[in-house]
Amino acid sequence: MSKKAWSGRFREDLDRRVEAFGCSLDVDVAMFEQDITASIAHAEMLAAVGLISGEEATLLVTELERIRDELRQGTFPLDPAREDIHMNIEAALIERLGDVGRKLHTARSRNDQVVTDFRLWIREAIDRLDSLLAELQRAWLQLARRYQQVVIPGYTHLQPAQPVLFPHYCLAYVEKFQRDRDRLRDCRRRVNELPLGAAAMAGTSLPIDRELVRQKLGFDTLMANSLDAVSARDFCIEYLACLTTVALHLSGWAEEWVIWNSATWGFLTLPDRFCTGSSIMPQKKNPDVLELTRGRTGKVLGALVTVATVLKGLPLTYNRDLQEDKPPVFEATRTVMDTLQLAAPIVAAAELDEARIRQAVQEGFLEATTLMEYLIGKGVPMRTAHELVGRLVRYCEDHNKRLPELTLTELRSICPAFDEDVLGILGPEKAVQAFRSVGSTNPELVREQLKRWSSRLGV
Ligand code: ARG
Repeated sequence: MSKKAWSGRFREDLDRRVEAFGCSLDVDVAMFEQDITASIAHAEMLAAVGLISGEEATLLVTELERIRDELRQGTFPLDPAREDIHMNIEAALIERLGDVGRKLHTARSRNDQVVTDFRLWIREAIDRLDSLLAELQRAWLQLARRYQQVVIPGYTHLQPAQPVLFPHYCLAYVEKFQRDRDRLRDCRRRVNELPLGAAAMAGTSLPIDRELVRQKLGFDTLMANSLDAVSARDFCIEYLACLTTVALHLSGWAEEWVIWNSATWGFLTLPDRFCTGSSIMPQKKNPDVLELTRGRTGKVLGALVTVATVLKGLPLTYNRDLQEDKPPVFEATRTVMDTLQLAAPIVAAAELDEARIRQAVQEGFLEATTLMEYLIGKGVPMRTAHELVGRLVRYCEDHNKRLPELTLTELRSICPAFDEDVLGILGPEKAVQAFRSVGSTNPELVREQLKRWSSRLGV
């Protein structure tokens, strides 16, 4: 059906090229479930206020449900000439129900319809993302539990910095992904406001009951201003900012594990089922999933930039530009969901090369800072202690020694404040024990954090 058939105003059919140019069907077909759900609520409301009869509502609902089944089974005939999924569904209703079908769009515009569907879609996506993120957090906990005692080098500037307990490292990601979940939950509140009833932009002179629709669709509130309702897309910006943060967290982790997984580093191995070989080099086993995770981050950030740019300079209210909001949102959602779906099993199945790690923590003078703090505890001013331990490190380098290999005499030759008890903190495993500040890698505190997260995440 061409545009002409939808309006008495047009004298000629739409130019084919315009039809193709404006068609959003291949994208918004993804919202068919939400469109049917919202249309059913709308039809029931129309009957409740007497704008259509009860029988008409029943006919509409039954047919909408049938169309939903057909769409699910892929038997519903989609016609790109009908611009989008909304017109396709309505056209089918009219074809099948005649005048009754012609009543569904009473007191409704595609402007409020589209954005209602979109909000429902994003709301569901947020709920799904929340469980995927929780799954990933659980995977980190599992991994932490498998290697509870392992001490790894912590890095700044990718240079060995201080020794940390491996579970402490895992929990850092649990915290990050928790904030991602919190942000999404907060964003959901603003997504979950109902625009339907704003009609084209000014509302309607018909006696609709928006509150009833709100209840049926599970929205928290009604959008209070019809102009705002059809034009607002800041919920997309917020949602995509949340997704971008998730993607950034994932990309940092992916990069780190690409490094750890490298032959040079050798801290961890990934199961074969998550890696691929090379077409020419027979020995290769590549961490492609991690690389793709890292490589797709730009798509998600790109989606945010795209929607922000669509919104830039848009006057009130609905402008066709807004049709461009969906592809980036759908694409970014798919990217992040696909990634999360693989990230969790990869994290859970990763294996540490403990021997290699033990060797690495011996290098890099990881306990130097703790040693400096030991001297501070003996009354040496911080800057002096810093300098003295620096000299010890240089001494070690000159004599090809590690800090735990120094004798008390050697230590004392640099600073007489060193006592017998210094031997209790030398060596990365012992140095870890020395930490005590809240939030530190102190094993006791880390164990408590593990317990707290276990009960919070139910594992
Ligand atoms: N396909 C369009 C979209 O998704 C429908 C908007 C219709 N509104 C309009 N005034 N043309 O945004």
